Amino acid sequence: MNKDSLKDRVEDILSQLTLEEKIGMIHGNGLFRTEGVKRLNIPPIKMSDGPMGVRAEFKNDEWMNIGNSDDYVTYLPSNMAIASTWNREKAKESGEVLGEEARGRGKDMILAPGINIVRSPLCGRNFEYMSEDPCLISEMCVPLIEGIQESDVSACVKHFAVNTQETMRLEVESIVDDQALNEIYYPGFKAAVQKAHTHGVMGAYNLLKGENCCQSKYLLSDVLRDQWGFDGIAVSDWGGVHDTKKVAESGLDIEMSVTYNFDEYFMAQPLLEAVKKGEIKEEVIDEKVRHILATMYRLHMLDGGRKSGCYNTPEHRAKVLETASEAVVLLKNEEEILPLNSEKLDELLVIGDNAERIHSNGGGSAEIKALYEISPLMGLKSQLGGNTEVVYTRGYNALKKDMNKELNWQETSLEEGNADAKDRDKNDESVKVESKRLREEAVELAKKMKQVVLFIGLNHDYDVEGLDKKDMKLPYEQDELVKSVLAVNKNTIIVVMAGAPVEMGEWIDQAKAVVWSSYIGMEGGNAITNVLLGKVNPSGKLPVTFPKTYLDCPAHCVGDFGGEKVADHKEGIFVGYRYYDTFNVEPQFCFGYGLSYTTFAYENLELKKKKDVPTKVLVSFDIRNTGDRAGAEVAQIYVANPQCTQKRPKKELKGFEKVYLEPGQAKRVVIELEENAFSYYSMSESKFVTEESEFQIMVGSSSRDIQLEGMLQL
Ligand code: BGC
Repeated sequence: MNKDSLKDRVEDILSQLTLEEKIGMIHGNGLFRTEGVKRLNIPPIKMSDGPMGVRAEFKNDEWMNIGNSDDYVTYLPSNMAIASTWNREKAKESGEVLGEEARGRGKDMILAPGINIVRSPLCGRNFEYMSEDPCLISEMCVPLIEGIQESDVSACVKHFAVNTQETMRLEVESIVDDQALNEIYYPGFKAAVQKAHTHGVMGAYNLLKGENCCQSKYLLSDVLRDQWGFDGIAVSDWGGVHDTKKVAESGLDIEMSVTYNFDEYFMAQPLLEAVKKGEIKEEVIDEKVRHILATMYRLHMLDGGRKSGCYNTPEHRAKVLETASEAVVLLKNEEEILPLNSEKLDELLVIGDNAERIHSNGGGSAEIKALYEISPLMGLKSQLGGNTEVVYTRGYNALKKDMNKELNWQETSLEEGNADAKDRDKNDESVKVESKRLREEAVELAKKMKQVVLFIGLNHDYDVEGLDKKDMKLPYEQDELVKSVLAVNKNTIIVVMAGAPVEMGEWIDQAKAVVWSSYIGMEGGNAITNVLLGKVNPSGKLPVTFPKTYLDCPAHCVGDFGGEKVADHKEGIFVGYRYYDTFNVEPQFCFGYGLSYTTFAYENLELKKKKDVPTKVLVSFDIRNTGDRAGAEVAQIYVANPQCTQKRPKKELKGFEKVYLEPGQAKRVVIELEENAFSYYSMSESKFVTEESEFQIMVGSSSRDIQLEGMLQL
């Protein structure tokens, strides 16, 4: 439909709607839906979380799962896992799966992806987000959103903006300067709007520039709509609206919340009355309804011919397995202890609660009712078969939660945050005694067995909505366990499963092999087994820096994090590696890092300005697979301006490409850098500027392993 006819149709319907009907369309009239207008065949908008699959079906007016057997879904890798693949194709496919499943489940909008900047390792929701770097986020979220929206379903990119902590998330104000907003916190959202054409954006709970984000005129009208041209639906986070007049006059279109008094929502009865009294103009409501109707047309909700979707298909599960296998990151591999040779493996000791834990049903609103979830223990046993004797012991004492509770934590989330997660650190005497017993049992077995794989990390008691972590240490005395096992068995492979960086300093030097993954979906156990047994050559790279301790992280040592009233982002643009590299802080593992079972060589760098557009630069180089296994490498382009008149980061990611190579094969890679790769946001001019200067262009296999380097005058 062309723009004019879309506009005409929207205006035509709008003119037929009563004020009451319009009000019904702009607030929740159910926990996950708005009201439709039957007499004009306008359906309600049905939503669902997000982001790792379509959430279980809730009653309309109670936080209670309906509990039928028809809402099991495909459980996808988390956003951080998708970002770890550094593969745009995998992001696209993940979006396609999510969109088809959402549509298959009858949804109009899936509350995903989460793309907030990972500012501190301690944020409880890091697993739902992608990275500390705006370029990686933008490049990965665009295909993901496009994939979702192919199924006539709206994505809903969240949480706009600067929702960087869970502590006091409803009250805290994020203080951030305009340079950091424009260079770090906004680009992902801007790309989602301008490149992916997302139909939905969700506001954040926190405040920014003195306003609650979900009713901020500055954010939702000036930035999102006027500057970026967003013409889709802006939805509040659940309970993020606090004032009728403010929200009415902001760019927010739909108010959602966690309470059941739908008529009392700020954009319900109170708004109706204010309009009737003449305190608020009806025009502001019309504008919201216009956005909703236009989006409904774009999703074919009003004119027929809409795609119908599907869920739980074998194709979806196959795609999820591929993405999960690419999301695994190999951090250390001395003496080529990995991959394991299954033919010679007559016995294997598997230790750790995470080898056996089901993660899909936790995390907060990201919880999934997965059709199944292959644990690592299950993956190893089923792939190794009967010739390998697999012995399992739990190793550490992670309390199992009661997942069968009738009411969901979200019911009381506005007053209590995530009450369910709060008792996670309970560590009474009986817990300690049991931990010691489990540890001793594991050590005794490790002494006797030739090969050990130890699965440690976090779970959704820690990687959880509504609560941040208090430090980066492994809970449940896991450091003790790792050290004790390594002391008796040098052939212990450590697999860390966690949605955020964890401290490894107490044992990393003793470990020969370490593997990391975020939560990687229902085929996770098979994906990890594929990597451990060498059926898949690992190609994931870290989407965040792993600092040695959270105290090294700029959010903590420069700015403040976890504050109850304000979170001052004093570190400005120096987030993640931008800080560690510029201020010479040695991380445990740097941004962009990840090993392979093969090796790669970089050669023949060439830098060229594009003839027609001299501000565009072509970076070309060869990558050669110098090992004897096929594998993939993520080549990363970093740019710096050492002569800049401003204090700038030592390097910034501006492009990347994942390249698959057979043994001995070489490929020429060409990456085009746009002008924005060379510009920065000037606070004095309130816009992006490019200084005439000599720029340094670096090509590397991680942010700290630069293989080729050149200078270019622009
Ligand atoms: C979360 C959102 C989520 C919404 C609906 C809120 O608590 O912050 O990300 O989409 O609930 O469940």
